Amino acid sequence: MKIIIHGGFFSESSTHLETKIAKQEALKKIASSGFEYLKTHTALETVVFTVSLLEDNPLFNAGIGSQIQSDGKIRMSASLMDGETQKMSGVINIEEVKNPIQVAEKLLSYDDKILGGEGAIQFARENGFNIFSTEIPQRKEEYLAKKQSKGLGTVGCVALDGNGKLAVATSTGGKGFEIPGRISDSATVAGNYANSHCAVSCTGVGEDIVSGAVAAKIVCRVSDGQTIQQAFHKTFNELLPFDGFAGAIGIDQLGNICHQNSHPTMVFASFDGDIYEIFN
Ligand code: GLY
Repeated sequence: MKIIIHGGFFSESSTHLETKIAKQEALKKIASSGFEYLKTHTALETVVFTVSLLEDNPLFNAGIGSQIQSDGKIRMSASLMDGETQKMSGVINIEEVKNPIQVAEKLLSYDDKILGGEGAIQFARENGFNIFSTEIPQRKEEYLAKKQSKGLGTVGCVALDGNGKLAVATSTGGKGFEIPGRISDSATVAGNYANSHCAVSCTGVGEDIVSGAVAAKIVCRVSDGQTIQQAFHKTFNELLPFDGFAGAIGIDQLGNICHQNSHPTMVFASFDGDIYEIFN
């Protein structure tokens, strides 16, 4: 059993040591909680559980900690993929919902698996998902204080369970101050992809991740016989010509964990019961 999570880039906290340490501590606890959960649950259940914990923590740019868009609203995107069935589900630009990843999970059993905008919000309301107000004071202050900041704190989790099954989930509040209607990578195969060979979650600038088809390329390369390290290296090298800003975490079917980023401030935590690692 293996688990790895990411909390995005230290876009703000690289200059605020206290926030950086708080994020590291939060990642450590959440990776450990996720691993405990994995002992009695599937990889798919675990990635939803773990990403929900990240969405519930306002330190990260997902769920209640989401960035604000240029019209002052919060719109979130999240998806998950079951490596065994290769089914993917997600929500794009959903509002009001506390845990977008749980709405994505619900959609996995529907024929229509990825919903956007108003349809996604309506689906969440009809299915009784927790709602949070985008009017909380923190949001208004952020709107003024962080007008120019970029939210590169997308969260994600990859898990390999005791039956050798892989799953991945990714959730984001977007990049911050974007044009309403902009689509994140997090509910696309570029930002979140898995099969029975490998599972990968990305963070960074959505446009660059989509241009580099990052998660899908890494998973395809591992499926075609490359090691996970080779697949990460080749895919990240292909970001260089356009200075793509991306990070990714992944696990292969043998339990090899890999992480790479194009810029030096990304954070991850991994846990397999014996070895705990935190990176930034
Ligand atoms: N990776 C998150 C976004 O660009 O929306």
